[in-house]
Amino acid sequence: MRNKANIAVLVSGGGTNLQALLDAEDSGILSHGEIRLVISSRPDAYALERAKGHHIPTLCLAKKDFPSREALETEMIAALEQAHIDLIVLAGYMSILTERFTRRYDHRILNIHPSLIPSFCGAGFYGLKVHEAALAKGVKVTGATVHFVNEIPDGGEIVMQKAVEVREGDTPEVLQKRVMQEAEWIILPATVEKVAKEILEKEQKA
Ligand code: GRF
Repeated sequence: MRNKANIAVLVSGGGTNLQALLDAEDSGILSHGEIRLVISSRPDAYALERAKGHHIPTLCLAKKDFPSREALETEMIAALEQAHIDLIVLAGYMSILTERFTRRYDHRILNIHPSLIPSFCGAGFYGLKVHEAALAKGVKVTGATVHFVNEIPDGGEIVMQKAVEVREGDTPEVLQKRVMQEAEWIILPATVEKVAKEILEKEQKA
């Protein structure tokens, strides 16, 4: 029996969440999964350097190099199959996946969102905009959510959430950093471990 599920991480930017997953693998917090492939939507994403530092194969699939979203995803699917990927993790991936893709990987794609869904989520809520909206509303508690991905933006089944306090005088940048440190970098590795373990257990029973 296999003792690790194969994980692909999709990124677009700095990759601090990817780093949290790599650290979790090193420390043993993530023990039922192994990151085997990192795919970026941008050639200049620093996340790619983090992956290379860990000797993980990388691939860049940029929208401008393909005639359509479907064509890009066809190539992505080929790479995922070749690496025998069981679980896909969106860690700051800034592109929308088609329904064809999300259906193919039903309950096999996780996303991290920097708010407590259903607040401040869906179309248009990404990056600093999420924290700007939370501050504009005056919420006293925000947080992060890890959920399965389906065809509705930020609409799939919630797996894990963690609350974070909003403090007097917070700017969007300060709040973003606190949400990452106190929630995202903790619940993303924890969820990936949980789901990877469940995938292996299901496989064993089958
Ligand atoms: C994080 O805030 C994540 O919640 C959101 O995009 C950001 C990615 O940051 N989906 P990083 O690239 O992991 O540093």
